[in-house]
Amino acid sequence: MIALKALIRIVSFLHFLSSGTLSVESAKELGQRNPRFLSLFQVVQFPNDSCNGSNGKNGTCYTSAECESRVGTSSGSCASGYGICCTFTARCGATRSENCTYFESNGGEVGSCSVNICPCSDNICQLRLDFNSFVITGPSTSTVSTSKTLNGQQVGSTVGVASTQATQCLTDSFSVTNPNGVSPSVICGTNTGEHLYVDAHPKCNQLTFQLSTLTGQITASRSWSIKITQLSCDFVNLAPDGCDQYFFGSTTGVVRTFNYNGGSGYHLANQDQNICVRLCFQIPIQSVLSDLTSIFYSRQERTTCRICWSATNDIDFMLSGGAAGGVTSVACCGYGSKGTKTAGFDCVMIPSASKMAVSKVILPAAAFCGRSKGLVSVGGGNSATVCSRKTPFNLRFLSDGFEFVNEAAITDRGFQLNYILSGTNC
Ligand SMILES: *[C@@H]1O[C@H](CO)[C@@H](O)[C@H](O)[C@H]1NC(C)=O
Ligand SMILES: *[C@@H]1O[C@H](CO)[C@@H](O)[C@H](O)[C@H]1NC(C)=O
Ligand SMILES: *[C@@H]1O[C@H](CO)[C@@H](O)[C@H](O)[C@H]1NC(C)=O
Ligand SMILES: *[C@@H]1O[C@H](CO)[C@@H](O)[C@H](O)[C@H]1NC(C)=O
Repeated sequence: MIALKALIRIVSFLHFLSSGTLSVESAKELGQRNPRFLSLFQVVQFPNDSCNGSNGKNGTCYTSAECESRVGTSSGSCASGYGICCTFTARCGATRSENCTYFESNGGEVGSCSVNICPCSDNICQLRLDFNSFVITGPSTSTVSTSKTLNGQQVGSTVGVASTQATQCLTDSFSVTNPNGVSPSVICGTNTGEHLYVDAHPKCNQLTFQLSTLTGQITASRSWSIKITQLSCDFVNLAPDGCDQYFFGSTTGVVRTFNYNGGSGYHLANQDQNICVRLCFQIPIQSVLSDLTSIFYSRQERTTCRICWSATNDIDFMLSGGAAGGVTSVACCGYGSKGTKTAGFDCVMIPSASKMAVSKVILPAAAFCGRSKGLVSVGGGNSATVCSRKTPFNLRFLSDGFEFVNEAAITDRGFQLNYILSGTNC
């Protein structure tokens, strides 16, 4: 009888080895009851590392029972076959607290579609959202005057400048809550390949699509897949405070406004998009003690001390303005002394901007606006290269909540700018 029981245990353990369906608890029990299995049990303890799922998603290595209890999808094996690569998908209405959860559409969503992303441990500081795909209807392109504005505020019909609803995300939109701070700007349109950082909160962050049911206004075949990575507070490569986007891993890169869509898009209303770039291009060595991180970064700061921004083509910078022209001046990011200037508010700010050739002379204004002349430095000139030594390196895009009638007639595409990190003589 005892021999039979032992045989059953051995058979079930062999079954576990071949299929991986025995839980850690059962294995532990087995090990405790029969010391001969103890060494085998130690083999099945594996770390919950990230893994490549057979479904193309990144997952976490769990036992099959753990994956099931966490409502994950089993996607191939990991840990030399002892674990299951468990991937996590969230659709409208879900609440998830797993690292690497994918918020995905099924193609038929309408109205409000939210997921709650909750911290996977008590030490999560940021979420990184990667838009593996992101297509919803873009902003209004209306050229019809619907209000008058003065100093950027809607006013009565007798004063102010005629303004339209162009650039507003009226049909579809996507938003992310930040319970302890400023939420990222609401976006719409096509944003595949873009990303977003937001502070994580113990009360969870809510990601919401608002999708109109007015069929006449829906211009997109909606679909999205957003990978949500949770970053712990001691991770060496958190985005600096206040950054909506964070670029690293290369000394060159390309940044753009949301809904740029290869140049066929339209920049969006009410944006405050703070784009940050890491100083150095080496990935910090994880084994460096975290309290040495500041020393590591200050060393990097000496090796790369300048960022330069430029547009490949003049039309890769179209933010505001009637007649084609680029401006850098204190008039950008404002409405002029009378509050009626129409070509200035939608703008880019580059702190301590300088000309490339004389990069130690700071331009009088760090704000850029206009259209179809690329970035300009003082005195005009098309497609200037503008540099900055101010760290953390960043570029900020600001837009107001409407387009003036003369702006709306142009369909300003926004910008796509290249950056290059350089400089040892600082
Ligand atoms: C993996 O995760 C499971 C479930 O949370 C946990 O029981 C196990 O201890 C983890 N493994 C390691 C090595 O941390
Ligand atoms: C996942 O696949 C990528 C590319 O094939 C590889 O670089 C990476 O090391 C893999 N990650 C894991 C955890 O196996
Ligand atoms: C999986 O993770 C790797 C490395 O972080 C990344 O390059 C890849 O795009 C991810 N795959 C998906 C489908 O998210
Ligand atoms: C989440 O997964 C990513 C890899 O996909 C990893 O870099 C990161 O450290 C993980 N976060 C936590 C909190 O474990």
